Amino acid sequence: MTTALITGSTAGIGAAFARRLAAQGHNLVLVARDTKRLGEQATELHDRHGIEAEVLAADLATEGGIAAVEQRLGDRTHPVDLLVNNAGFGNKGRYLEVSMADELTMLKVHVEAVLRLTSAATSSMRERGRGGVINVASVAAFLPRGTYGASKAWVVQFTQGAAKDLAGSGVRLMALCPGFVRTEFHERAGMGTDNIPGWMWLDADKLVAAALADLARGRTVSIPDPRYKALMGVVKLTPRGLLGGVSSRTGRKYGPQ
Ligand SMILES: NC(=O)c1ccc[n+]([C@@H]2O[C@H](COP(=O)([O-])OP(=O)(O)OC[C@H]3O[C@@H](n4cnc5c(N)ncnc54)[C@H](OP(=O)(O)O)[C@@H]3O)[C@@H](O)[C@H]2O)c1
Repeated sequence: MTTALITGSTAGIGAAFARRLAAQGHNLVLVARDTKRLGEQATELHDRHGIEAEVLAADLATEGGIAAVEQRLGDRTHPVDLLVNNAGFGNKGRYLEVSMADELTMLKVHVEAVLRLTSAATSSMRERGRGGVINVASVAAFLPRGTYGASKAWVVQFTQGAAKDLAGSGVRLMALCPGFVRTEFHERAGMGTDNIPGWMWLDADKLVAAALADLARGRTVSIPDPRYKALMGVVKLTPRGLLGGVSSRTGRKYGPQ
């Protein structure tokens, strides 16, 4: 039996990863801050699928939280075969409207935690000659959109580079770039969603199924939906200056997170 560690497992995309991986028979290490919710999720997945679900309460915006998850990933006696770096959040507002403290917290969770947890996981996976890491980025990585987009662009670039460096080691890395997904994300950030057309919303369970298929295919970047693949194709061809204008007008209130 293999083990997957998922950060941000209790809601949205992370919870969809947990459901799918448990249904496939993987043991899980569930990471988030809310201990009660983690316990309930572990019990439910264990009872429904007969898998072992360990809980690790950790705040990835803190040194102690990142270190605790690093330590678990480095435990050679209970190896983790798949890491899903999924925990993340949005801040409402444009540049200079968001406090510096919130900007730095975002970089801690989206960049520092992803770097350190990927490194802890892959150094032990490389010794075993197998393993996988999915780093959840966003299509916002391809748009000039404040610290959120910049942090997700880092996730994509870092993951692609690390995947290249680890080619041939048996360890696969993939950046997952979703568009809008119905989760708790927008409500938590206090963002309105009324202006987002229905066709732009993705289903978390379908997204996760497509992401795992892309990892199995050896993709290093996954945009798992034809609508967003087409949109990102247009984005690539659009002059950067124009893109910045459109992105800024669309605003942080409603734009793709
Ligand atoms: N929803 C979208 O439209 C969308 C689109 C593209 C990319 N994404 C990305 O997908 C990922 C998951 O987002 P989601 O939409 O599923 O969000 P969500 O429904 O709000 O779930 C976020 C999860 O992360 C955990 N979390 C948040 N901050 C944390 C921290 N400091 N330390 C540890 N765990 C933390 C939350 O649990 P606790 O609060 O208990 O810690 C929760 O389990 C994020 O990286 C996000 O940027 C989302």
